[in-house]
Amino acid sequence: MAMHEPRIYDALGRPLRDLRISMTDRCNFRCSYCMPAEIFDSNFKFLPRKELLSFEEIHRLIQQFIAVAGIKKIRITGGEPLMRNDLSRFIEMVNQIEEINDIAMTTNGSLLRKHAKALKQAGLDRVTISLDSLNSELFEKINGRGVTVATVLDGIEAAQEAGLKVKMNMVVQRGVNENDILPMAKFFREKGIILRFIEFMDVGNSNGWKLDQVVSKKEIFSIINKEMPIEPIEANYKGEVATRYRYKGSNDEIGIISSVTDAFCSTCSRARLSADGKIYTCLFAFGGTDIRGPLREGATDKELQDIIVNTWQKRGDRYSEERLNNTDKREIKKIEMSHIGG
Ligand code: GTP
Ligand code: 5AD
Ligand code: SF4
Ligand code: SF4
Repeated sequence: MAMHEPRIYDALGRPLRDLRISMTDRCNFRCSYCMPAEIFDSNFKFLPRKELLSFEEIHRLIQQFIAVAGIKKIRITGGEPLMRNDLSRFIEMVNQIEEINDIAMTTNGSLLRKHAKALKQAGLDRVTISLDSLNSELFEKINGRGVTVATVLDGIEAAQEAGLKVKMNMVVQRGVNENDILPMAKFFREKGIILRFIEFMDVGNSNGWKLDQVVSKKEIFSIINKEMPIEPIEANYKGEVATRYRYKGSNDEIGIISSVTDAFCSTCSRARLSADGKIYTCLFAFGGTDIRGPLREGATDKELQDIIVNTWQKRGDRYSEERLNNTDKREIKKIEMSHIGG
């Protein structure tokens, strides 16, 4: 008899397919839309060491996710994942899990020159690097730490030299970097690297988000299409967050992630594990399910699996789909993006 892959479904019929793991809530950048420096200052209390899941603890949890959901793909996030000491050792542990065939990492790229080789050697397959402008003065302001564009470009080069697959993410904000859409598109097309534009989202509580700061997928499309005609192409897999396009007459690809104006909650199959061991079922969740407590109190594999299954089965999140017609303006305390990764 053929083996069926384990699958669990949430309250809206969506399978759990994809696990994103935040390795740390710290970052060496202070992007205004994610960790504004006024709030994430020297008084800010980041997670103390003992609150972080150890590599061994995360490894054990991954195995429980595999047991109940047949997870094959892991994405490592932060904060900035490379702020976590010895990350390559962890990648190596994940790489040894037979069921996992895709290990990706989301990073700001600033520390890649130092780490790319070791990461690749440990078994990392690909990196998604964030860069919001090619104008260094502007970029230094956006990242809040004066890190230059040249540093990130060098990180990209290091990743490619090491043999990692590279994709780029650019968060587009009206009045900040919308003029960088075209230069970025051209630059990365020439480099043969897929660039994805992300609509600015109202994640967390501290980035002062307003709808009029969002440059929509439609607008981004037409800005590029006017200069370099593009056409949609099919998704790589069901539930892919980026809408893919190719430049007409070529195989060069770009993507647009439209979580504000064209939400994709109906196919969202991502679970997020925070650095302190909570399971979040939505990027915009108010709270997560603690699994670190039971883990440290000696729960059996079966008990851990039950926590995952119960958490997923009662999931009804569809925040982005609800956002646009949500008239309830009460302040609700959401999780910060730097706490659960993008
Ligand atoms: P691959 O398809 O495996 O390359 O990964 P991906 O497209 O999921 O990659 P990535 O993690 O880089 O996602 C890109 C960005 O899309 C994230 O940084 C978020 O800003 C946004 N995003 C990803 N997942 C979600 C989600 O579940 N909900 C919302 N609203 N946004 C998401
Ligand atoms: N809106 C959209 N994307 C965001 N990111 C961080 N904060 C936001 C936001 N408010 C992006 C980062 C990175 C990924 C982790 O998420 O730029 O590419
Ligand atoms: Fe750091 Fe990424 Fe957040 Fe910028 S968006 S502060 S690089 S975690
Ligand atoms: Fe998934 Fe929540 Fe994003 Fe919707 S808003 S796509 S449910 S993470």
